[in-house]
Amino acid sequence: MKKFKLPQSYYNWTSIIGTTIALVSLFMIVFLFVISILFGAGTSSYMGLVTWIVLPVFLVLGLIIIPIGMLVKRRKDKRQHVVYEKTWPKIDLNDVRTRNATMIFGIGTVFFLLLSSVGSYEAFHYTESVEFCGTVCHKVMKPEYVAYQNSPHAKVACVECHVGSGANWYVRSKLSGLYQVYAVLAKVYPKPIPTPVSNLRPARETCEECHWPEKFYSRQLVVEKHYLADEENTEWDISLQMKTGPTYSALGLQEGIHWHINPNVKVEYIATDTVRQNLPWVRFTNLKTGEVKVFEDEENKLTEEQIAAAEIREMDCMDCHNRPSHDYRPPMRFINDAITAGNISKEIPEIKMKAMEILGIDFPTTDSAMAYIEQELNEYYSSNYEEFYSQHPDLISAAITNIQNEFKKNIFPEMKVRWNAYHNNIGHMEFNGCFRCHNDKHKSERGEVITRNCNLCHSIVAQGVPDTLQVGSIYDELEFVHPNDPYGDWKEYLCVECHSDLY
Ligand code: HEC
Ligand code: HEC
Ligand code: HEC
Ligand code: HEC
Ligand code: HEC
Ligand code: HEC
Repeated sequence: MKKFKLPQSYYNWTSIIGTTIALVSLFMIVFLFVISILFGAGTSSYMGLVTWIVLPVFLVLGLIIIPIGMLVKRRKDKRQHVVYEKTWPKIDLNDVRTRNATMIFGIGTVFFLLLSSVGSYEAFHYTESVEFCGTVCHKVMKPEYVAYQNSPHAKVACVECHVGSGANWYVRSKLSGLYQVYAVLAKVYPKPIPTPVSNLRPARETCEECHWPEKFYSRQLVVEKHYLADEENTEWDISLQMKTGPTYSALGLQEGIHWHINPNVKVEYIATDTVRQNLPWVRFTNLKTGEVKVFEDEENKLTEEQIAAAEIREMDCMDCHNRPSHDYRPPMRFINDAITAGNISKEIPEIKMKAMEILGIDFPTTDSAMAYIEQELNEYYSSNYEEFYSQHPDLISAAITNIQNEFKKNIFPEMKVRWNAYHNNIGHMEFNGCFRCHNDKHKSERGEVITRNCNLCHSIVAQGVPDTLQVGSIYDELEFVHPNDPYGDWKEYLCVECHSDLY
């Protein structure tokens, strides 16, 4: 058999190294691809990064080095007067060397094109995957990723909300992504990561791809158990009928909370801050009748010029549901739920108060929090409730584990993320939320206000301690009773005025 020959200029170290790099990368891409098919989803999140982004870069690099080596060699040979037949390669397929080179080049090109089409398809998918968004920048995205996994959207890809469909938004997101990669590598990102709320794609093109406004949601019963901060962890129940939809289904979006997204209704507002918490100017337009009402905050009125210069935003899903998938819950709520679920025993005296006290501390790291939770609870109960502690070591240790677990789902000291790092606009207890507009202070010219009437959005159907539960019905709503507040002090303030620093 004749020796396999290539053009003279190929025989130089640079080109040979280039070939080796290209071949090894190619082999590894194929190898990892086969592995990922064989072992499927169980493989590491970095594998996609390596297979479809890092290795192809090396492959291309190797391929670029080969002709460079050949060029350099030709120049050098020329200086040393090594005789080449012609300056340009002659494509004469009868010549073995040329034939081999052409064949390799031809087959190589076809193969490379095939591979790069598979590769770019895979790279596209990979950069759109939840694992890429959520875990590659591990530490940075951890809070969002963990909260997301515990949310109703755990199976909706990050990009469905953050990018949406269409090449335009894909390119935009990848361009800003490049800066983000730089920010992570250079460690110049802010903590916590600011909300992208003003850059998010409109809900119409993301949320509404899955939940369209005409889709009807009926009223919903919310039944919650609260536990007060006393020795017995006194249970306090609240059941509310959320008026998401109308009284009678036939009325559709004509009334109730989702009235705001009725296609015939347009609610617009002006925000005077970037996180949209101060909304001094609100305009409602009935698109069917043409009726218009402008509500202005009496205490914070904008001037004509300010209104003319401001951006007017139309309200959409995101103005209420701004944390549909990254909801860092306040300790008051997750501890209540852990007690209700039986993960933390209600029998442990003062456990609600103690847990809230510990979770209110600003820990520097997750590890220091884990250690403190364990040490503090053991110390507190062994010295203050000695008998209980010695009789129920299992309850105390279960409480410790569960408080630690809840901490890890909701609080992320490394990224300075906890419930109050971001506003959640759905209710009105920890943040003003609905009360940004519904505060009885936004007045129209005719003197109407956007009301804070406690029965507008929900009706309370049961409340109080279980033994003496006050019960109403869906037709006959109860007046709110605040726990431990015999004089009705809560009426004098907004809920946030006390509740935003209770936790
Ligand atoms: C259901 C839609 C949805 C999904 C799915 C989703 N996000 Fe978000 N994300 C949002 C919205 C809306 C905001 C803006 C929140 C705000 O304005 O308060 C946001 C904000 C963020 C922020 C800014 C910081 C913050 O907490 O506000 C990051 C980072 C983020 N998302 C990452 C992710 C990652 C990573 C995934 C996938 C693991 C993901 N998101 C999945 C809707 C979503
Ligand atoms: C790719 C589809 C998809 C997109 C996009 C999407 N969602 Fe969802 N959403 C779902 C699914 C699936 C559920 C869970 C189904 C259920 O609970 O009935 C859900 C549930 C919800 C719920 C109910 C949560 C609960 O506690 O029951 C809300 C609220 C919600 N989504 C709001 C949003 C908002 C706001 C956006 C845009 C930022 C959005 N969704 C984008 C698919 C989507
Ligand atoms: C940007 C301002 C704004 C925000 C924020 C807002 N609303 Fe409204 N809402 C309005 C306006 C304006 C009206 C109509 C008032 C009128 O015409 O009397 C209204 C009316 C309503 C109605 C009565 C609809 C009907 O006719 O049956 C309900 C219920 C309601 N809102 C619930 C909520 C809930 C719940 C939230 C928070 C999750 C909220 N709103 C947040 C502006 C707002
Ligand atoms: C005025 C504020 C407001 C707006 C705007 C709004 N919602 Fe809601 N939505 C609510 C409230 C309040 C609830 C009751 C659930 C709760 O208590 O958390 C709710 C409930 C839901 C639910 C759960 C329903 C169920 O019965 O499980 C979904 C899904 C939902 N909304 C999707 C959307 C989508 C999609 C949009 C935009 C097209 C939207 N919402 C716009 C306030 C709003
Ligand atoms: C503009 C609509 C609106 C008005 C007005 C309103 N609420 Fe609410 N309220 C909500 C929403 C939305 C939630 C549910 C929040 C959630 O899903 O986490 C809620 C939740 C609650 C809860 C349950 C506690 C919790 O957050 O789990 C209580 C109690 C409550 N409201 C009392 C009141 C009282 C008292 C008033 C009158 C001062 C009032 N609400 C007025 C929208 C409203
Ligand atoms: C004057 C201050 C103040 C105002 C205003 C106030 N609260 Fe409270 N609230 C408290 C305090 C203090 C507690 C803790 C009581 C305890 O645990 O013994 C509490 C506890 C609660 C609880 C039980 C919490 C838990 O730990 O599970 C609910 C529910 C509640 N408040 C709802 C509301 C709502 C809704 C509003 C607004 C309509 C409101 N509060 C306004 C001071 C206030």
